[in-house]
Amino acid sequence: MRYQHFGKTDLTVSEIGFGCAGIGGLFQASRREQVSLLRQALDDGITFYDTADMYAQGQSERMLGEAFRSNRDEVIIASKVGYLFASRLKQQGKIRYWGMACDEPEHALPSLQLPGIASIQVSLSLLHPEALDVVIPRASERGVGVIARQVFASGLLTKAAEGLKASASVDDARRAAIDTLRGLATERGLSLPELALDFAIAQKGVSVTLLGMHAQHHLAENRGYLKRLSREPSRPPSSSTTPTGDGSGRRSC
Ligand SMILES: NC(=O)c1ccc[n+]([C@@H]2O[C@H](COP(=O)([O-])OP(=O)(O)OC[C@H]3O[C@@H](n4cnc5c(N)ncnc54)[C@H](OP(=O)(O)O)[C@@H]3O)[C@@H](O)[C@H]2O)c1
Repeated sequence: MRYQHFGKTDLTVSEIGFGCAGIGGLFQASRREQVSLLRQALDDGITFYDTADMYAQGQSERMLGEAFRSNRDEVIIASKVGYLFASRLKQQGKIRYWGMACDEPEHALPSLQLPGIASIQVSLSLLHPEALDVVIPRASERGVGVIARQVFASGLLTKAAEGLKASASVDDARRAAIDTLRGLATERGLSLPELALDFAIAQKGVSVTLLGMHAQHHLAENRGYLKRLSREPSRPPSSSTTPTGDGSGRRSC
């Protein structure tokens, strides 16, 4: 795994984060398997976990609590509440930082003006690179940490994409774009998900790239990438970041 400083905070984060939207759903793996998956991810060096109170009616947050009860100080957990509540929690010392998760890149721009904002979360993929136009450069200038999500376009850029591509919900233009990207990946000796990850990870200003995993095979498929990443040199921090952490990647939120 590779680590870097998170915007202007004193946090050090793993460049790959675990998106926990699929954790806690009863229709998937058992509770024990999902807790085990979260712990294995930490063993693989993932120290950043993104969740929300609405994911599986709170089960996602609860499972994170169960998985990391005995080593809470080794992971950074980002959850979601409303802005006013986040400000109150910060004043009460219950959270260390707050940020904004935005549906559309343009919604992130006003958020970047808010005093005290530490991070923004935006969608960023080879199919949806719009956040690169203004939002991510502006956040980077201001030292606001960027969390990139949906880098696999919610599954379209993975090995499972063949099945999805055949689905009626994927239009012809999207199918053609995926085929072009697959060709590009092959030319570079990469798989489609590797190309998708390389794209997000390489962007200046992106601190954490989330992978929305909920099954053992997801982590197993991504392990090769995590190992490759750990062998590659870190990107230099953006000019406005202040590296003050201990570099261990083991900081709590
Ligand atoms: N703030 C917000 O509004 C918001 C919105 C969306 C997401 N998020 C956050 O972003 C995270 C990622 O979003 P996402 O899950 O939609 O996007 P994603 O990471 O682009 O896609 C993940 C999906 O791709 C499929 N997949 C196939 N192979 C995979 C592999 N090797 N590794 C990981 N996934 C694989 C899985 O679905 P299958 O079931 O098909 O295998 C998985 O659910 C979420 O977990 C959540 O933390 C936040």
